[in-house]
Amino acid sequence: MPEIILKNLTKTFGSVKAVDNLDLTIEDRDFVTLLGPSGCGKTTTLRMISGLETPTVGEIIIGGRVVFSSEKQINLSPDKRDVGLLFQNYALWPHMTVYQNISFGLENMKWSKEEIRKRVKEMGDLVKISDLLDRYPSELSGGQQQRVAIARTLAPNPKVLLMDEPLSNLDAKLRMEMRAELKRLHREIESTVVYVTHDQLEAMTLATKVCLLEEGVLQQYAPPLVIYDQPSNIFVGDFIGNPSMNFVDARVNEVDGDKATLEASEITLEMDFRSREGELKSGDEVIIGLRPEDIALNPESGANTCTIYSTLPSGMETVVRAKIRNTMFSIVAFGRVDFDVDSKMEISFPSRNYLLFDKATKKKLGAGSLKFRD
Ligand SMILES: Nc1ncnc2c1ncn2[C@@H]1O[C@H](COP(=O)(O)OP(=O)(O)OP(=O)(O)O)[C@@H](O)[C@H]1O
Ligand SMILES: [Mg+2]
Repeated sequence: MPEIILKNLTKTFGSVKAVDNLDLTIEDRDFVTLLGPSGCGKTTTLRMISGLETPTVGEIIIGGRVVFSSEKQINLSPDKRDVGLLFQNYALWPHMTVYQNISFGLENMKWSKEEIRKRVKEMGDLVKISDLLDRYPSELSGGQQQRVAIARTLAPNPKVLLMDEPLSNLDAKLRMEMRAELKRLHREIESTVVYVTHDQLEAMTLATKVCLLEEGVLQQYAPPLVIYDQPSNIFVGDFIGNPSMNFVDARVNEVDGDKATLEASEITLEMDFRSREGELKSGDEVIIGLRPEDIALNPESGANTCTIYSTLPSGMETVVRAKIRNTMFSIVAFGRVDFDVDSKMEISFPSRNYLLFDKATKKKLGAGSLKFRD
């Protein structure tokens, strides 16, 4: 299975830059999710890889073969790129049985009857629809139809699988189930997958690497947990995670080696850096980023550093809003816990991974531990 390389890939529609100078290497057997808000260029990127959309500028290489190059004037048609496509509206042919839906493409490719029979059986076993092969699509549930569509896409054994929100028509429970199956499937067929979704949970849980786009521009390309823990800028930090990361405006008061004193409104904090990407000096405007589960509430300690504003217990966790003076924080407390609204208690910062961003450029400046300073 091949790697896919995109080189300064750009697509403009009139005055809209749908994809802007995208450089991306998708390695062999990666499962890459293209993630970002509506209109950020996910579908356009996928369509360019597949050959359904012609890039304005750039180069696309699949498995060592240039399939598109604006410079060399190469543009292979979709059927010559050896990619499998699966879109949101995966429309099965209603007048054909499941068997015929899966075999149709293979017949067109002139496979022998025997090869086709064997392949359909393999696919049926893989996506667990072997007992449904004689049914018509109208006699299947949504999830079963989805699996037939996946089988149909996989049957010709494409080197690359391109999927655009293939699960968005399914209900939440089925979607979870299909996610797990897709991930399992990826392992079994050892394919390179590019998967478009605007659902951050889907993107994070499925991917070996997430490619996060905004307005056609690449924001970060990294494994899910790196994206989560080390977002390269405020947009990424804010887009990933639910409830969202807390952002607190502050001004740098003093920098002393690996430590900086940060003045937020009515709170003074000290950050002890363990990594640092940018220069920092007294007077700089910054934004501190704190994940809700990295903030702790300690009702037993007797200290009164915060006031509970609201609580949303759901069994597995409780989402709390608490104020330090006038600054509101979202906090996730795991387990079956609850707190009295308006009660006061200690709030603390036990993590080593609070983030500091530049307020002007929005870029990450560093990460470290955090404590109150009076
Ligand atoms: N054929 C087209 N003609 C003109 N503009 C287009 C065309 N296709 C896409 N665009 C524009 O390009 C941008 C990117 O569109 P794209 O479909 O790639 O977004 P997306 O990330 O897939 O969004 P969504 O999550 O809503 O599916 C949008 O601003 C869109 O309006
Ligand atoms: Mg789209």
